Amino acid sequence: MATRTWAEPYKIKMVELIKMTSREDRLKAVKEAGYNTFLLRSEDVYIDLLTDSGVGAMSDRQWAGLMMGDEAYAGSRNFYHLRDTVEEYYSYRYTVPCHQGRGAENILSQLLISAGDYVPGNMYFTTTRLHQELAGATFVDVIIDEAHDPVSMHPFKGNVDFDKLNALLDEVGADKIPYVCIATCVNMAGGQPISLGNLKQLRAWCDKHNIMLVHDMTRVAENAFFIQQREDGYKDKIIREIVYEICDLTDAATMSSKKDAMVNIGGFLAMNDEKFYEKACGLVVVYEGLHTYGGMAGRDMEALAIGITESVQDDHIRARVGQVQYLGRILREAGVPIVNPIGGHAVFLDARRMLPHIPQEQFPAQALAAALYVESGVRSMERGIVSAGRDSKTGENRKPKLELVRLTIPRRVYTQAHMDVTADAVIEVMKHSSEIKGLRFAYEPEMLRFFQAKFEEVE
Ligand SMILES: Cc1ncc(COP(=O)(O)O)c(C=O)c1O
Repeated sequence: MATRTWAEPYKIKMVELIKMTSREDRLKAVKEAGYNTFLLRSEDVYIDLLTDSGVGAMSDRQWAGLMMGDEAYAGSRNFYHLRDTVEEYYSYRYTVPCHQGRGAENILSQLLISAGDYVPGNMYFTTTRLHQELAGATFVDVIIDEAHDPVSMHPFKGNVDFDKLNALLDEVGADKIPYVCIATCVNMAGGQPISLGNLKQLRAWCDKHNIMLVHDMTRVAENAFFIQQREDGYKDKIIREIVYEICDLTDAATMSSKKDAMVNIGGFLAMNDEKFYEKACGLVVVYEGLHTYGGMAGRDMEALAIGITESVQDDHIRARVGQVQYLGRILREAGVPIVNPIGGHAVFLDARRMLPHIPQEQFPAQALAAALYVESGVRSMERGIVSAGRDSKTGENRKPKLELVRLTIPRRVYTQAHMDVTADAVIEVMKHSSEIKGLRFAYEPEMLRFFQAKFEEVE
């Protein structure tokens, strides 16, 4: 893809001012935050690449949609608009709004999982696995081996390995597998897509064994883009068609709409089975709100419905992924070790290779994210041993093969110049990487520790 082909299909109408801080200020801020970029104040950040979640820029049409909010407690017209849009673009017949993705994961896990079950998936996601475990299941990673190898150029690292899936089936039996959970554009693997060929095979496998197929569709549009670019038979299909085809192969979905659909808050659980929908309505009212708002304001459901339509436009997704590829390519050409192929929502730095002097037990990716912030004011996040947490049975640290720092690009927010500044900062940090010290826990929360943990330097 030539550099110029991803020019943004929008122009800027309003801006938010950001400011650069001094190195001394940032050093103080990072120490106060316990070397955890989640604990920094946003006003101390220059370019915020912590996440792509809830931080996208809404369009003028979405902002106008906010004014059309019908805030009735029950039966808001925005709910029906959202429900119809989900069916039209994503195929699912029933929609249960939720405040965000993990709200949907909670309801799904409670409804489908019994104690002692196993849930196979194409790599874990932090909140998804935790909800599965809280409901009594064990998560089993069935992604292909290449996904754990940052150097492999496999075009579809999100694919399922059927030998792994069949081995689990042989071991525990279909009765212990309530569903297979498949993520599109797998976040923890570096934003890597699953192919439609693999997904079709998985559909057939699930039908054969009478097992449900659940879709974590948080980044389905980005996955569709990679299918269009890389998979035989899809180059002439538009993103909207590919997105629909992906969803149509699955039975139910959890969605964090804060990503693809470019809203600041929101998500949903969606499905085709009426009985499942009835049960979900029974539970959403306990945890989120009535089934016609599920924790979302009417105006937010309206902005979401509009955001869905914008997220599947070819020119939008080409610019969105194009910007990520642009940053990734500059870093790769400068010799920075990153996860390949470059993902859809983020560039992932390989902290193992950047900081070979820091053992994984001293959290190299956490240390690298903190160092990048001190160097430049660019905020990123750890995706390695800290995010992986402890094994729920043994209490030991899980040691993932991937020890990464994620530079996550918010949608429609930053410019090409911001990407250049970010690349310069990473390259500068790499030059002095041998000076970066390892970390140890000063405070370790029990669940989802990466969000709130505090660290200190190992001298
Ligand atoms: C793949 C994936 N699934 C689920 C979630 C959870 O969504 P939320 O943060 O809206 O609760 C996220 C959020 O980062 C995600 O990336």
